Amino acid sequence: MSAIDEVKQRTDIVAVISQYTALKKAGRNLTGLCPFHSEKHASFFVFPEQQSWHCFGACATGGDVLSFIMKKEGLTFGEALRLLADKAGVALPEKPGQAEKKEEQAELYQINQAAAEYYHNLLLTSPAAEKARKYIAGRGLIPQTISDFQLGYSPDSWESLKQHLMQIGYSENSLLKCGIIIEAENGKTHDRFRGRLMFPIRDAKGRTVGFGGRALDDAMPKYMNSSQSPVFDKSSILYGIDRAARAIREKDRAVIVEGYMDVIMAHQYGINNVVASMGTSITETQVLTLKKLSRNMVLALDSDTAGEEAMLRGVGYENTLGAEVRVVRLPEGKDPDEVIKEDIKSWEQLVEQALPIMDYTINMITAKLDLSQPGDKSRAVEQLVPSIAAMEDGVRQSHYMQKLARLVSVSPHVIETTMKKLVTAARKRPTINKEAVELTIPVEVTDTLEEYCLALLLQHPELKERCAGFSVDCFANSANREIFTAWLECDDRLILKDKLDQNIHERLDALMKKEIPATQLEKKIGASLLRLREKYLRSLESRRSELLAQEVEAGGAGADLAVLEEQGIETSIQLGEVQKQQRWSETRR
Ligand code: CTP
Ligand code: MN
Repeated sequence: MSAIDEVKQRTDIVAVISQYTALKKAGRNLTGLCPFHSEKHASFFVFPEQQSWHCFGACATGGDVLSFIMKKEGLTFGEALRLLADKAGVALPEKPGQAEKKEEQAELYQINQAAAEYYHNLLLTSPAAEKARKYIAGRGLIPQTISDFQLGYSPDSWESLKQHLMQIGYSENSLLKCGIIIEAENGKTHDRFRGRLMFPIRDAKGRTVGFGGRALDDAMPKYMNSSQSPVFDKSSILYGIDRAARAIREKDRAVIVEGYMDVIMAHQYGINNVVASMGTSITETQVLTLKKLSRNMVLALDSDTAGEEAMLRGVGYENTLGAEVRVVRLPEGKDPDEVIKEDIKSWEQLVEQALPIMDYTINMITAKLDLSQPGDKSRAVEQLVPSIAAMEDGVRQSHYMQKLARLVSVSPHVIETTMKKLVTAARKRPTINKEAVELTIPVEVTDTLEEYCLALLLQHPELKERCAGFSVDCFANSANREIFTAWLECDDRLILKDKLDQNIHERLDALMKKEIPATQLEKKIGASLLRLREKYLRSLESRRSELLAQEVEAGGAGADLAVLEEQGIETSIQLGEVQKQQRWSETRR
């Protein structure tokens, strides 16, 4: 159970709301004067069974206990949650406050920067760095490049950086946190990098977040990197992004290579729109960072297995993240670094001729097959159809269906049939089953439907148009409301996460990961938004008619009968509208 659920479960909504307005019993529910607007007759209700409240009067809104406190006390979700958690005695997961975290990070940037300067000076002047200077000259780097990238040398000693940094005032503890010194088993600490060529790694704002250190001979490992720290997260860093961002925007294209040396060589030759993924397959966070600069990405990765994996994932990025991904075919056994150094024109040509990732994938898979053999034909179709089926752009999808059909010489119709089978099979799997369940059991599944809807929207921001006019009230759960409202304002996952209270992060991550086949998205979102709205209206209607019955029994003394009746008509009209739309989309299936 998440902290949010636990707080809600341990909080008595009736007790909380009673502090703001006098509640009296009305059947299974409670009623009172609305604490949000002034009124003579009670139109405010609390529903203990559903742990929710609603004002049928001027506010015409409602929610759970968290949204009540937010509205009444003018608090953010996080503040309301902390207030109730305190009262309920629930310990929220502790994380340093935002301000403390920023301060901690600021020191780590400073330490890394001081280390970069220290290493750089040594490379330029220290006699001990002679070997390193020879090495980089041998690799063809010129002095301007060495200074642009602030390359450095870490002396072959155990404590020189540590002593230098402690002398200028940093504590051993901070250096450890920075990952620039490490603790041995005997409890003593020493420099992490020794006798290496140093590459300072910077983030998009030019802050130094860590280092890569290359051995100057065949020593293992060839590269060492800073360890994970509050400022260094290998999966989100793009080496060179600080110097490449402008060119990526101007050329409207980002070229992604694997290594430090590849980036540096490209920049030395005036090709500035190049960054490196640092040896790993490119991550979603990295694609998102680049997409802010340009949606056109060119991958120039090793054609080994790691490369292949990245490529296959790249097709997914085109769909889920809306990037346009192309792939450069590098000459066998060569790094961009070598190609650029040998012949800049041929590098430029390779980039110009980069293949759309799907064509590259088709070539890669069919290269290993004999397409005159029926077995291999089936294999090609089996391996390629999932990527094609996942494409959202119908024109593009049809293009590749035809291409695949030609390759294996069958009619496009056959490919289409295979694709349909695949989609139907996917539908029979659990995610879709849940959808069916949601329709039949209305009570417990409110959350599942809300979350299904949110997951769809979060994973496919292009569906935003479909949410025009959708009322956030339709989400009964206030954490879901928070996510939906924040997403409407900004669908960038990283910024979104930053905006939301940390207690919602777990939920957000789960929603992002929830597996939903990326087919027929328009229909899926249309249908589920309608269902959410229907559910909301139905619950309003049943509450209203229950209340009305009580009022009539009690002689119409309490709530304003006319208002309730009028709202009833209003709700039925809306509900009728929703059902009409549902029938209409049914007939279009
Ligand atoms: N890498 C790493 N750790 C390793 C090996 C590689 O972090 N043990 C990362 C580095 O960012 C490196 C990139 O993967 O730049 C590519 O690795 P590789 O191709 O082996 O190195 P190059 O960059 O080509 O280095 P060089 O040309 O100096 O051999
Ligand atoms: Mn290399």
